[in-house]
Amino acid sequence: MNHILHVVGARPNFVKAAPVLRAIRERGIRQTLVHTGQHYDRNMSDVFFTQLEIPEPDFNLEVGSGSHAWQTAEIMRRFESVVLERKPDLTLVYGDVNSTVAAALVCSKLLIPVGHVEAGLRSFDRTMPEEINRIVTDRLSDVLFTPSEDGDANLLREGVAKERIHFVGNVMIDSLIQLLPAAKSCPRNGFPERFALVTLHRPANVDEGETLRELLDSLTKVSQELDIIFPVHPRTRQRIEEFRIDSRHLRLLDPMPYIEFLALQSRAAVVITDSGGIQEETTYLGVPCLTLRPNTERPITVSLGTNVLVGDDRKRLATELAAILEGKQKKGVTPPLWDGRAGARIAEILQKM
Ligand code: UD1
Repeated sequence: MNHILHVVGARPNFVKAAPVLRAIRERGIRQTLVHTGQHYDRNMSDVFFTQLEIPEPDFNLEVGSGSHAWQTAEIMRRFESVVLERKPDLTLVYGDVNSTVAAALVCSKLLIPVGHVEAGLRSFDRTMPEEINRIVTDRLSDVLFTPSEDGDANLLREGVAKERIHFVGNVMIDSLIQLLPAAKSCPRNGFPERFALVTLHRPANVDEGETLRELLDSLTKVSQELDIIFPVHPRTRQRIEEFRIDSRHLRLLDPMPYIEFLALQSRAAVVITDSGGIQEETTYLGVPCLTLRPNTERPITVSLGTNVLVGDDRKRLATELAAILEGKQKKGVTPPLWDGRAGARIAEILQKM
């Protein structure tokens, strides 16, 4: 393998690609980095590149926002010429966002092998756009790097040949381990001693007025017992404004840089979220996580980690929260190979190919 092209587009991609880019660079293999521009705000993109020490992308497709079909198609259109020009030996795609599936489609049609980092995860819920992206990307991939063994089992069940699957561990945890010391020395910036950290951006939770209103209502109730810190994703901010929801009782902040957010996660009494990656980060940190979703593509965070799925059950949210505040929280363990070396394992496998 002489030349690897990486495709990133959205916030969680940056966190996953950083350790892989570093490990491959250390082996002296040529790399090309393409940013699709799916996320483009400074605090959704540039800040992550700086803090994670990701090199300047060789190409920025500047795609921006749109419907799923538009965004996916536009990434494909703009990405094809880059692949034709660069002719990589393999393209690495990350996670489950629209940029991931778009790049996998383009490369597989140009007969460029595709490697998928974070392969095999399944929520078995096709109402989630990410589930469609995961299934299609895995189907098209030639090399599949899984973060946990449930990923291997899912892929084998779907008929993927065993030789293509590599259980390498969790690249997101590589970044966490690298930057945790910086996070620990972050100043507290006037944030309270004891607080709940909240994030919310899944379409199923924020795109319907009634659902979002009820969720924010429950969070307001939580805030009567425990301070809430809530960095708001742009999608959610737009919806709160569009539905004219009164959010005065919640402390709404702008999206945060990686290190500052990691500091908040590591200091939180509890994290309440609908994110995928945060379920994993809290498991590694041993911080209780209440997930506002009925299912998860990361079941290991429930079976081994600190994660509890509360879905949209407000009563469950209240009882689980009360248990945590009484100190009766779930004690988790770190899943196998979440050890900061996943990126190095990927680089090693690719070097041998
Ligand atoms: C995307 C991913 C999701 C991931 C999330 C992480 C897909 C299908 N979804 O969701 O899996 O968990 O990223 O953040 O790929 N916007 C801005 N500034 C930005 C980016 C987005 O204002 O820099 C606004 C736009 O109005 C846009 C909306 O946020 O329409 C949603 O962005 P989009 O990239 O479509 O999906 P996310 O909700 O961010």
